[in-house]
Amino acid sequence: MRENYRTLIQASRNAKRRAHAPYSGFHVGAALLTSDGVVFTGCNVENSSYGLTICAERTAIFKAISEGKKKFKAIAITSDGTDVTPPCGACRQVLWDLAGNIDVVLDSHSGIPLQMKLESLLPIPFSEKRLKAARKRKS
Ligand code: THU
Repeated sequence: MRENYRTLIQASRNAKRRAHAPYSGFHVGAALLTSDGVVFTGCNVENSSYGLTICAERTAIFKAISEGKKKFKAIAITSDGTDVTPPCGACRQVLWDLAGNIDVVLDSHSGIPLQMKLESLLPIPFSEKRLKAARKRKS
């Protein structure tokens, strides 16, 4: 790992234990590190109306935003999967919008986490910038 995110990974493992996943049985935990060093954790919370389920990553970032945090450094993700669990497409977009190009650290059962920048998982992203540019063109 380019940075030592060991503590962040441990926080995501603890969060995974709180997953509410009675339908898929797939437990996910996430831990989001703010620029000022605070960690917000999240787990997936499933719903009997399946589409209302929220992923661990979005739980974590919505918790942080709702507590007034605006700048982020990294997110660690742990799951039940046999290998690493990269964030789903919806979470990539939400993380990009709210956290920007943070480090993404994927816990792995081999013990060697995978680390990358969010931009490598979401090339050519849609963002607020494009909305602003369109508005400007119209005016
Ligand atoms: N899930 C997450 O929490 N994060 C991901 O990045 C992938 C999927 C959850 C959603 C659902 O509760 C379960 O994993 C199976 O898709």
